[in-house]
Amino acid sequence: MKILVVGGGGREHALCWKIRKSPLVDQLFCAPGNAGIAQEAECLDIAADDVSSLTNFAIEKAIDLVVIGPEAPLVAGLGDRLRAIGISVFGPNADAAQVEASKAFTKELCDRANIPTARYGKFTNPETAKAFLDGLSPPYVLKADGLAAGKGVVIPETREAAEAEIDEMMSGKFGEAGKTLIIEEFLKGEEASFFALCDGTAAMPLIAAQDHKRVHDGDEGPNTGGMGAYSPTPFAGPDIARRTMNEIIMPAIRMLAAEGKPYSGVLFAGLMISEEGPKLIEFNARFGDPECQILMMRMLSDIVPYLKACADQELDRMPPVSWHGSAAVTVVMAAKGYPGDYEKGTEIRNIDTANAMDQVTVFHAGTKRSPDGRLLAIGGRVLNVTALGNSYRDAIERAYQAVDAIDWPGGFCRRDIGWRALKTSS
Ligand code: AMP
Ligand code: GLY
Repeated sequence: MKILVVGGGGREHALCWKIRKSPLVDQLFCAPGNAGIAQEAECLDIAADDVSSLTNFAIEKAIDLVVIGPEAPLVAGLGDRLRAIGISVFGPNADAAQVEASKAFTKELCDRANIPTARYGKFTNPETAKAFLDGLSPPYVLKADGLAAGKGVVIPETREAAEAEIDEMMSGKFGEAGKTLIIEEFLKGEEASFFALCDGTAAMPLIAAQDHKRVHDGDEGPNTGGMGAYSPTPFAGPDIARRTMNEIIMPAIRMLAAEGKPYSGVLFAGLMISEEGPKLIEFNARFGDPECQILMMRMLSDIVPYLKACADQELDRMPPVSWHGSAAVTVVMAAKGYPGDYEKGTEIRNIDTANAMDQVTVFHAGTKRSPDGRLLAIGGRVLNVTALGNSYRDAIERAYQAVDAIDWPGGFCRRDIGWRALKTSS
């Protein structure tokens, strides 16, 4: 098979690394890829959201399966274009990718399909939005409706701060994305990222992970795309997985199919595990980053038949995916300053030493090779140092030993990834 992976982050490196292990694969391409992906796949100089060039490449090379990593090409309709010309695609069409592109779309889907989620209101007028706060208690959860690069959620502690934020968001702080505002009840509990494969009508659970979104140790500081993750999570065991499939994933898949927007690809449910059970915070139309990195490390099955089964609506013929039973952890190394301004072009050394460690794989996100072969950091999140272990503690120790082997003065990482799991298991 010839496979094209779209994207160039740590998620796509992990996907390429896993796909490359399949005996079914003859050729693997990645657009645009990065310096790590270049060791697994032929990287193309095509941006991940350049729908026309990607489509032309897929036709020219007679690609058998296109695996779309990030949300931008999904929302831009890459899936639609490829399906229209008979190319198999892993990833939903643009209409189904609205589960991620519009928070209002997902909240309304939850209403229709009776999916447990936070009580909410949707507003285009600041005064009505403020009046809605009367029925809620602080903290308040304010969300820009559209895609805002993961930054569109603000959680003010006081009524005054919430009202000021409503004014700012609705007067364009997040551009068009914030002109429609969702305000919702604050949910208490532990968060988990739950993943399911879907083929339009059938769905199959993968596993859950917990990521660490805040930039500093102790889950402090601003939100990021994710500073590390671990799996399994003690907060989302088999009972929560079953309930998530029955109460959240399947009702969504059925409703989307019934409404003519069949969902195919991986459905990522961001959950709050509350006292009453799992509640949906958000859907994403893709794998989580960095959650994907640990999913790929823990997956024992060949992933390619599953990706193809999603694309070809044959998921119900597949056996459950099998998993490495013990723990996996990924630590994100980011450029100093991230998620604010950071320097580009700093040099990273000794990745090979870290990669050679037992049970460790270093996935690349924002990296490239200089013409003279040095490895340079060119993004915010740069490396995902990922380890398997016999226990959380073992996996965490291996990951940090590998982090410490990497020589990158321009980078930093959190030192406490997995702390919530350690707290419950010790
Ligand atoms: P989202 O982009 O919707 O995933 O929201 C970003 C983060 O905001 C989530 O990971 C949660 O930590 C937090 N959050 C969002 N919605 C709620 C809610 N209703 N209650 C509590 N926390 C929330
Ligand atoms: N790590 C969370 C996400 O990918 O959205």
